[in-house]
Amino acid sequence: MRDALLRAFRRAFPDIEPTHISRAPGRVNLLGAHTDYNEGYVLPVAIDRAVYVVAAASDEPLLELVAADIGERVAVRLADLEAGHDVEGSPLPRWARYPVGVAWALLGRGLAVWGIRAVFGGDVPIGSGLSSSAAVEVAFAALWQEIGGWELPSSELAKLARLAENEYVGVGCGIMDQFASVHGRAGHAILLDSRSLEWESVPLPPGTIIVVADTRTHHELASSEYNTRVRQCHEAVRRLSERLPGIRALRDLTPEALERNRDLLDDTLYARARHVVDENRRVLEAVEALRRGDAATVGDLMKRSHISSRDLYETSCEELDAMWEAAIEHPACYGARLTGAGFGGATVNLVLAEGLDDFVAHIRARYRGKTGIEPAIIPVESADGAWASAL
Ligand code: GLA
Repeated sequence: MRDALLRAFRRAFPDIEPTHISRAPGRVNLLGAHTDYNEGYVLPVAIDRAVYVVAAASDEPLLELVAADIGERVAVRLADLEAGHDVEGSPLPRWARYPVGVAWALLGRGLAVWGIRAVFGGDVPIGSGLSSSAAVEVAFAALWQEIGGWELPSSELAKLARLAENEYVGVGCGIMDQFASVHGRAGHAILLDSRSLEWESVPLPPGTIIVVADTRTHHELASSEYNTRVRQCHEAVRRLSERLPGIRALRDLTPEALERNRDLLDDTLYARARHVVDENRRVLEAVEALRRGDAATVGDLMKRSHISSRDLYETSCEELDAMWEAAIEHPACYGARLTGAGFGGATVNLVLAEGLDDFVAHIRARYRGKTGIEPAIIPVESADGAWASAL
């Protein structure tokens, strides 16, 4: 991948030597579905699918960006970041808003952002719930940090990458994806408290493999439904806080308090809150199980998480359910659930290493049989977080 990107750079900028390279991984989320924007716990794993940026720093206050995977190019003056248009005055294409948004967020924080000529691309599937957008943001943030010679605490870098996505791209995501891309550690999941940003890495169970099962579907309603879920959670908090003034986010709610005050919520808001309250507990239980190397319990919690996402949070879809059902009927599968925001994309599966080949063949055939769609079944390795270096 690195060499392919270096070649792409030479083609795009034949007379210029690249000076820097960075890499940021995508992620799966073992548990913690839609808990991050409720200030709760998440348990992501950075994976060996990543975005690379190859760049040449320049004194000119200009970003010349090439998206290698789609063969598009854009040039933006640093002075025009706020206005969000390219050198010709045209609005930026969507793909460019991720890196440009990062430059905007870093400058807004008073950090030095150099002009660059850059080519980026990678092998994180787009739209599959593996956080290709966070990987782009973090790869550029790490790159500008390396070029600029400043150093932010790693959690701050993740926060600025998220700010770019929230404010510049206009997607109201939580902190999980950027955080995982920055802090990943091979062989480990990351337990993150999305409120305090305290985190620790927790070893993955020995003898298991993580398998991403991409349904190859993506439902258009994903982003509007995502925003609706965020609003519903805030509305549930607003109503519950009439009686429970200590509650700032669903994270603060106990199952008992939710049941006692159920009359304040309609059925939908209750279901959303119930999912978040239970899911937070599942994350903490899974961490205990991981510390014991107990893959069976982690897998069981993943299954319950999927059921809750399907029935209470309503972020699954037919294809994800078909993939999930195919997975959990196989004896080598400890557990499975949808990963990312839902509404298409992929499931994440925790699988006994010895049964991997049979598992892959099984879910591929079963999913194809049920839906007529050819899935992408991808065993992945856990990976370290982002890095950048001079070439
Ligand atoms: C997307 C968002 C994350 C998180 C998940 C759901 O991946 O980017 O912040 O909310 O959905 O868990």
